[in-house]
Parts: sequence; structure tokens; C-alpha cells
Amino acid sequence: MDPDSPNSDNLRSWGKFVATCLIGGVVVTLGATALLASSSSPYHGDSQLPLGISFRRRKKKPVRVYMDGCFDMMHYGHCNALRQARALGDQLVVGVVSDAEIIVNKGPPVTPLHERMIMVKAVKWVDEVIPDAPYAITEDFMKKLFDEYNIDYIIHGDDPCVLPDGTDAYALAKKAGRYKQIKRTEGVSSTDIVGRMLLCVRERSINESHNHSSLQRQFSHGHGQKFDDGGSGSGTRVSHFLPTSRRIVQFSNGKGPGQDARIVYIDGAFDLFHAGHVEILRLAKEHGDFLFVGIHTDQTVSAKRGVHRPIMNLHERSLSVLACRYVDEVIIGAPWEVSRDMITTFNISLVVHGTVAENDDFQKESGNPYDVPISMGIFKVLDSPLDITTTTIIKRIVANHEAYQKRNEKKAASEKRYYEGKSFVTGD
Ligand SMILES: *[C@@H]1O[C@H](CO)[C@@H](O)[C@H](O)[C@H]1NC(C)=O
Ligand SMILES: *[C@@H]1O[C@H](CO)[C@@H](O)[C@H](O)[C@H]1NC(C)=O
Ligand SMILES: *[C@@H]1O[C@H](CO)[C@@H](O)[C@H](O)[C@H]1NC(C)=O
Repeated sequence: MDPDSPNSDNLRSWGKFVATCLIGGVVVTLGATALLASSSSPYHGDSQLPLGISFRRRKKKPVRVYMDGCFDMMHYGHCNALRQARALGDQLVVGVVSDAEIIVNKGPPVTPLHERMIMVKAVKWVDEVIPDAPYAITEDFMKKLFDEYNIDYIIHGDDPCVLPDGTDAYALAKKAGRYKQIKRTEGVSSTDIVGRMLLCVRERSINESHNHSSLQRQFSHGHGQKFDDGGSGSGTRVSHFLPTSRRIVQFSNGKGPGQDARIVYIDGAFDLFHAGHVEILRLAKEHGDFLFVGIHTDQTVSAKRGVHRPIMNLHERSLSVLACRYVDEVIIGAPWEVSRDMITTFNISLVVHGTVAENDDFQKESGNPYDVPISMGIFKVLDSPLDITTTTIIKRIVANHEAYQKRNEKKAASEKRYYEGKSFVTGD
């Protein structure tokens, strides 16, 4: 079976039809050609054809593609890879590597499998998820993918994936002719992000009184220049991320609210987008038809949470939120206070806020950002399904500081080689 030409059966029956009708002569053949050319018109349905031969396009078998990964500390780079993979087929099946396999191959993951599953399932280009996928695709697992999951192609990025024994992790799929490649996303990796966090934490613990606002600014705005880390090197490359309007369009739904849609608004920093965010967004969406998400500016986040935040800049945070299937639209740089003008402009019916948030002091502050929706009676506090915040994630990483630092040094070196040897690959 060649998944490239799902219509090959139709072509074969076409051949048979021509052969059968040859006796009938040229007229019949021409007639059939005309039928073919306009086979979409209802008049020329298959019941019109002699010999019971069907020319209606058989319901095309969907092309199913598979991509796997650890998806630890998932970010918009992973989401973009999933978007690209999905574009190579009709349905995307994602294998999420088990905790045990990650521990053996890379060291302990920051996010346990159940959180990684929540994250991957929430990406709007993902159709199915396989938990406990193996780190490397074995012959057995590949057979399972083809036979049980009906996978047509296995997808991976253009960066080499070498197993500890020096072999190519996708060699089997390539040999089977079922491998397709996507271009690796520009400018971000988990190593980057862990580096940004470790740097902040280390700087702070070494000298609490020191103030690294200039450093913070570099990170939060994702400038391309390298930061000289004084030789202690722990993956401190700053973001290579160059946001384009095209990428934002690719991540967007491109649809406004329908008529009479009930619009729900939720705002926040959504820094280091995690399973706690996904779950509160899912809950928020259940309260209406259209979910509007306000993402605070880097300046607002720094002012409220300290100079080391946010870890991810506004554009990075916006893409992560946009990739979430529960989100319909985002405001890139939302104001801290929800104003009456905003509520009117966007026809917001309900403003919600989760019980688990980094900073719940707003209730006590003189200027409660939700004063207006509260006074209008359209404010609701939602019970956060998960007790995870950005601080939780940072704490987990700090707890594994040493292990990550070692792992980062190794990975940073190979990533450096990747960026140096990087060349253009078509397809985005
Ligand atoms: C912390 O920074 C202050 C001001 O730069 C400096 O005087 C002090 O020696 C530093 N402390 C340590 C432990 O590095
Ligand atoms: C950091 O330093 C700048 C300038 O030296 C100062 O204006 C600012 O208040 C400091 N911030 C903190 C949090 O100490
Ligand atoms: C505003 O939202 C309400 C639902 O809350 C809807 O009935 C109404 O049609 C919307 N108004 C406009 C102008 O879309």
C-alpha cells in the first residue's frame, strides 16, 4: 500500500472501466471522461454509471503521522514541531516517552508523565496520544505503530537523534521508507529555558543584594546577544527566538466569536506554560463558548513577581497559550486591570481567575485588578484543578540543580554544534 496515492484504487478501476467499454467505442469513453471531470456534480453520482462501477471518490483514508518525544518542560518549540508534523498528514498521533525511559536516557524529567500527557493532549494539532512510548523506536514498536495505530509516516526534526550506541534513532523508519523530516523550530530548547532559570536562581542565591535587572531585561526580551556567564557555563544562551507575524498567524485559530457567543476572559503571566495553566484554561472554557486570554507584559510580570520573572518573554508566552486547544484568542500584552472599556470592547460576559495563582495578594491590594468585573457581578473564582504554579516548576529544577547543570553542559555543547552547522531546510 502506498499512502502517497490513496486514489490508486480509483485509478485502477478507471483502467478497468476503459477496458470494459472499449467495445462501446469512443463515445462511451469520452462520456466517462466528462463524468470524471465533473464527478463532484450530484447529477453524475455513481448510480448514473453503467456496470455498477463507482467513480465517486472513495472516502479518502486519512494519512496518519506519528511523532514522539519527552515533552519535558514543554514549550512553543515543541508545539511548533507538532504543528509541522500534523501538516504532513491528516491525523497526528504523539508518543510520550515514559518517566522510566527518560531517567535511563537523560536523567529525571522535571514534569512527570501525567503532567506531560495533559500538556501534549492540550496542543490543538494533536489527535491521539500514546503514553509510555519507548525512547528509541524498536522494530516491535514500529510494527505496532504500523499495524495497530495505522501510522503511515514517522516524523522527526532535522536535528540528528543519536542513540547511546551511536546509531540513528530513526534508522528503522528510514529503511522502511516511512520517515519524514521537519525543520527544527528556530530558537528555543529546553536547555535554553533551564539555563535561564538556573542562571536566575544561582545569581540570586550567590548575592541576594545584587540586582540583575539588566540581565533580566536581556532574558525577558529574548535578545540574540550572548551573555558572558563568567565561564561557569550552564546553558546560558539566551533565546534565539525571532517572532514573526506569520508564526503567530500559524498558531491562531483565525476565527472570532460566533453570534451570541458567551465570551470568557482570563488573564495572567502564563510563564513556563504548564499543566496547571492547561487545566484552568480547560475549566474557564467550560464557562462559555469563546475563551479570551489576556497575557500580561514582561514589565507587568517583573513589577508583580520580581526582576527575575518572567522566564519566557511575552511572545514566547503568547505562542504557548495560543497552541492550547481551549484558547480561542489572546491579547498579547494585556493590562493588569480589567477595565470597563475592555469588557465592552470584547463583549466579555464573565471574567474568571483560578484559586491557585502565583500572587493572590491582589485581593488585599488597594487596586484590585478585578474591581470592575466584581462590581458588574461578572467575576468568578474557579477552583484550580491542579496545584502547580510557575514557582513549582522552578523549584523542581532547582532541586535537581546539579544534575541539570551537568546535563546542560553536555547538551549545550551539542546544541552549539547544531546551530553552527545549521543550514536551511525547506518546509515550515
Ligand atoms: C554582594 O554584592 C555586594 C554589592 O555589590 C557586595 O558588596 C558583596 O560583597 C557581595 N556579597 C557576596 C557574598 O558576593
Ligand atoms: C536595581 O537597581 C536599580 C539601579 O541601580 C534601582 O533603581 C532598582 O530599584 C534596583 N531594583 C531592586 C529590586 O533592587
Ligand atoms: C455579547 O454577548 C452576549 C452573550 O453573553 C450575546 O448574546 C450578544 O449577542 C453579544 N453581542 C454582540 C454584539 O455580539
